[in-house]
Formats: sequence, structure tokens, C-alpha cells
Amino acid sequence: MTYLEKIHESANFIKSQIPKTPDVAIVLGSGLGDLAEQIQNPIVMPYSTIPNFMQSTAVGHKGNLIYGELGGKQVLAMQGRFHYYEGYPMEMVTLPMRVFNALGISTVFVSNAAGAANPTYRVGDLMIIKDQINLMPNPLVGKNLDEFGPRFPDMTRPYDLDLIKKCKEIAAKLNISLQEGVYVGGTGPTYETPAEYKYYRHIGGDVAGMSTVPEVIVARHGNMRVFGMTVITNEGFDFTEDFVNDGDDVVLQAGIAAKKMTTLFTEMIRNL
Ligand code: HPA
Repeated sequence: MTYLEKIHESANFIKSQIPKTPDVAIVLGSGLGDLAEQIQNPIVMPYSTIPNFMQSTAVGHKGNLIYGELGGKQVLAMQGRFHYYEGYPMEMVTLPMRVFNALGISTVFVSNAAGAANPTYRVGDLMIIKDQINLMPNPLVGKNLDEFGPRFPDMTRPYDLDLIKKCKEIAAKLNISLQEGVYVGGTGPTYETPAEYKYYRHIGGDVAGMSTVPEVIVARHGNMRVFGMTVITNEGFDFTEDFVNDGDDVVLQAGIAAKKMTTLFTEMIRNL
């Protein structure tokens, strides 16, 4: 089966399970699966039941695709995503984005947990992703999928400016403070060395993560509108003598900040 056939097989399966085309797709990052609990009248599709979907092996990632209502709109949420560090090829990491595109979904919200390279950021902060730097293999390497987009996609505005504006307005109303910065995506699975966090800062990054960037490249290739949000789960500066980066703590900190993000996403989706 070709990759294109796989995309359509997955899309056709999902279509057969849901009553309407979703207004928006949502990707929930490490420890951020809580938003899924707020989805009304949910139809839960475990990844194991969806043709061609991988298993979600990462800590804090559940592995369900959930359709339902949020903020009065129809949403399709990934409770857990696929990462390059899990050993999946980039085309499998980004298959869900292709499938969302094939389903006719034109807007996608992505979220993640990340470590701060910007020393003014603190654990628990939310950050609007305004831009990204790709330090992973580019998921579009290989034959171009002309059905989705051009060989050389424009990446001048990876994150939708209107959605960013809307997010700031809603956050101001709700009294939620926000950072706004650049997400640097590396392969992981190692957390960064102190020198690498400094390097990320020097090249213009604010946070370090291991996801999101390939998904956004593929979403933009297919001309989907993207909004991205990071939850700061650890600080990559001023390391104390006994500090260690730890995956369980990342998930714990993400869980604590998840409610704020859920509120913001819900209100933004209501106003789409
Ligand atoms: N680096 C990379 N990925 C991450 C981090 C980090 O510090 N925190 C959460 N995900």
C-alpha cells in the first residue's frame, strides 16, 4: 500500500466512526491529555483500532483519538502523539496531520511540554508558539505529495497570526498571563545539556522540545491553519548542583498547568 493509500484508509475509517467533519483537530502533548476529559459526547477511537496509526509509547501519552464537542464546536483530539524518538519514521510521526487534512479539517491546535531556554520563563508558564526552529529531519524529504501541497512550502507564517491575536485577547479577558516565543524541536530523547540550552537560546529559541515541529511542517504543507501552545515544565538555565531533568516531573508539571491551557483552547475554539 502506498503512503497516500494509507492516509486515505485511515481517513475513511475515522469518517465511518464520526457523524460530521470536525471544525478543528487538537494534538495534546505530554501530560496535557486532560483537555480530552472536557470533550462532550465523546467517541473514543484507540489508536490500536485505527488503520496505520502507531502505538503511543511516550510517558504521559494515552493513545486515543477522541471526537466530540468542545466550546460548542466539533473537535477531533489526539490524546497522545507520535515522536521521532520513539523510532517511528517521520512519515508515520506526521501521518495524523495528513489524515486530518484528508478529512477536510482546516484548523489544528498543537500543544506540548517543553523546557525553557529563555531565562525569564518559569515552570508552569504558558507560551504561545510564534515560530519554530527545526533541528530534526524534515518530514517532507522524499517525493512530494502534490495532492497536499507544493514541493517548496512557504514557512513565513507557520503559526496563524489571527489565532495568536485571538488567544491574547481571550487570555487578557481571563487574566491568564502568557509568554510568546520560539519553539526549537530536537530529536531527543536526551534532554539538552546546559551548553545545548544556551545554544538554543543563541540561535533564537525560547523553549526546547522533541515534538510539534514535524507536525506543523506537514500541516503547513497542506495549508492548514495552525495554533500552538507550550507548557513550560522545566527550566534550562541556572542549574543548581543537584538538579536533574526527569520525564515524570515534566508530565507532573504539565498536568498542573493543563487546566489553564484547556480553558484557553476551549474559549478560542468557541470563538473560531
Ligand atoms: N527539552 C526537550 N524536551 C522537553 C523538555 C526539555 O527540556 N521539557 C519537556 N520536553
